[in-house]
Amino acid sequence: MGQLAASIAHEVNQPLAAAVTNAHAALRWLGAQPPDLEEGRQALGYIIKDGHRASEVIDRIRALIKKAPARDDPLDINEIVLEVIALARSEVLSNGVSLQTQLASALPLVHGDRIQLQQVILNLVVNAIEATSSTSEGARELLISTGRDASDVVLVAVRDSGPGLDPEGLGRLFDAFYTTKAGGLGMGLAICRSIIEAHGGRIWATANVPRGAVFQFTLPVG
Ligand SMILES: Nc1ncnc2c1ncn2[C@@H]1O[C@H](COP(=O)(O)OP(=O)(O)OP(=O)(O)O)[C@@H](O)[C@H]1O
Ligand SMILES: [Mg+2]
Repeated sequence: MGQLAASIAHEVNQPLAAAVTNAHAALRWLGAQPPDLEEGRQALGYIIKDGHRASEVIDRIRALIKKAPARDDPLDINEIVLEVIALARSEVLSNGVSLQTQLASALPLVHGDRIQLQQVILNLVVNAIEATSSTSEGARELLISTGRDASDVVLVAVRDSGPGLDPEGLGRLFDAFYTTKAGGLGMGLAICRSIIEAHGGRIWATANVPRGAVFQFTLPVG
């Protein structure tokens, strides 16, 4: 928790410090003789952006902390996958991604919070789309599959044909604020892990064959 607190302090402090700097700049531009309104306006625009950034960090942390499943309903995991696909449809289409599914029939029900589990799958799908879109090489393919493990767990896998996992970040993928994306917060997978663990499951990532990444999670049955 110490590491997380330090990360949060850092992530929130950065936009706050930037806002203070920009506020000083705005005061300078407006106090000049004659005042430079254009520069002043620009500095205020930066402050708005900084403010949004800070509140986005806080929103994501709230989502992370709210880890206890709010509900404990019997759920059909295939239904949840299909709901997420409907939600992600326009993102899939606009990125030219071909999305396939392999949904096992007659899966036992799992128990939990539908919205939270949708959020997990959606985060994985968005990451997969971003991964396939980050290279111009090869077809952009995404496969979502469900199945049943030998033990009594249901397994969900999201596979992509993107550049695959960076070996240097492997141990940190699920850490809060670990990101390799310019506009990323690095909260998506941390939220996934906290939700899945609160549901009694496990989540992990491996290399896909012949390329790309596979993110899989399990949920206990019954
Ligand atoms: N499908 C994938 N293929 C390759 N790398 C991935 C994939 N999914 C995640 N990663 C790596 O894991 C990092 C963390 O992912 P995570 O979803 O937590 O944060 P993010 O996508 O960077 O930002 P956001 O907070 O918007 O989700 C990514 O920045 C990327 O480096
Ligand atoms: Mg993400």
